[in-house]
Amino acid sequence: MYINRIHLKQFRNYVNQIVDFTASKTIILGNNAQGKSNLLEAMQLLSTLRSPRVSRDRDLVKNGEPTAEITAICRRSLSEVELVMRLRREGRRSLGLNGVNLTRHLDFLGQVNAVCFSSLDLDLVRGSPESRRDWLDHVLIQLEPVYLSFLQQYNQVLRQRNALLKGIRQGKLSNDPTQMAAWDAQLVATGTRITRRRSRLVQRLTPIAQKWHSSISGGSELLNIVYSPKFQFQDADTIEAIHGAFLAQIQVKAIAEYHQGTSLVGPHRDEVNLTINQTPAKEYGSQGQQRTLVLALKLAELELIESITGEPPLLLLDDVLAELDLQRQNYLLNAIGDRVQTIITTTHLGAFDGGWLNSAQILQVENGSVKFQ
Ligand SMILES: Nc1ncnc2c1ncn2[C@@H]1O[C@H](COP(=O)(O)OP(=O)(O)O)[C@@H](O)[C@H]1O
Ligand SMILES: [Mg+2]
Repeated sequence: MYINRIHLKQFRNYVNQIVDFTASKTIILGNNAQGKSNLLEAMQLLSTLRSPRVSRDRDLVKNGEPTAEITAICRRSLSEVELVMRLRREGRRSLGLNGVNLTRHLDFLGQVNAVCFSSLDLDLVRGSPESRRDWLDHVLIQLEPVYLSFLQQYNQVLRQRNALLKGIRQGKLSNDPTQMAAWDAQLVATGTRITRRRSRLVQRLTPIAQKWHSSISGGSELLNIVYSPKFQFQDADTIEAIHGAFLAQIQVKAIAEYHQGTSLVGPHRDEVNLTINQTPAKEYGSQGQQRTLVLALKLAELELIESITGEPPLLLLDDVLAELDLQRQNYLLNAIGDRVQTIITTTHLGAFDGGWLNSAQILQVENGSVKFQ
């Protein structure tokens, strides 16, 4: 898919800006804090309804304004679509598709698919398990929009169960076993949907990431990705068996949960283990090697989304390309070719290969205003 045009009104530091994309590669050039990442953030909002940076819409609306609007015109293989997202400082957002207001927000998903690689993604290797879980969630939302509502349902159950555990620990609420059993059952039912999907996604991503990783690193290193939930199950297990294993693990942890006043079993605690030659990736290798690993994960994400949706997603490279050496840059750019619309932000053009610089569209951003060169 391609984004032909994006129009930002009162979004972050943009007042009223139309950007037309005219080449398969666009470079957005600008000093720090001018609005480069804001532009990519708008595209990510269209692809997952979530910002990678903030959780409240009010942060996305230009300071002092009541509403913001993102409009995009996208080309997919069979059709052209117009997407509109209205964000409010106070109140809910509204979404439109081809001029029709969508009452079900999930219907908006799946129109824009995007893979983003920013410096935040180095957390995939070095950061907490949460960043790895978020990565899987971000891919799943795009591949199966209903996953977003599964996630919201799980988080709601989790919040309420945690509030109960905390209240009991503080002596403010009584411990009613029937009530707790009801929350356990809901946690298990909603949590299993998340854990199983993430685990299956990892199984699909792993061979693709291994292929990319071995070709970028020259074949001597073996990458492995293992989804490791807080309870054990096999894919072939029946849903009842998986629920049973989940529930049994909650019971094992029951005393600790009352003691700590929080839920200890479930997808919010699952880990995704990345290893290279059987050593945890964060302990393995230099920053350059860790960057190679993240690059392999991103290329795997791109290939999987393309193979499932039938169209290449957008590739958003936020301040990372110039950080790769020329050899890895060229590797990446050759791997994606002209098929994939790629939007690259950078503070300087000097680090790029002149060959493909010539074919790219170059835009300059200054203080929330885009200049076409
Ligand atoms: N809600 C907002 N209203 C107005 N300006 C904002 C808002 N949110 C962020 N900004 C401004 O956007 C700029 C940062 O933009 P960003 O795209 O992250 O920069 P960069 O070009 O370095 O990627 C900062 O100047 C910041 O003050
Ligand atoms: Mg930035």
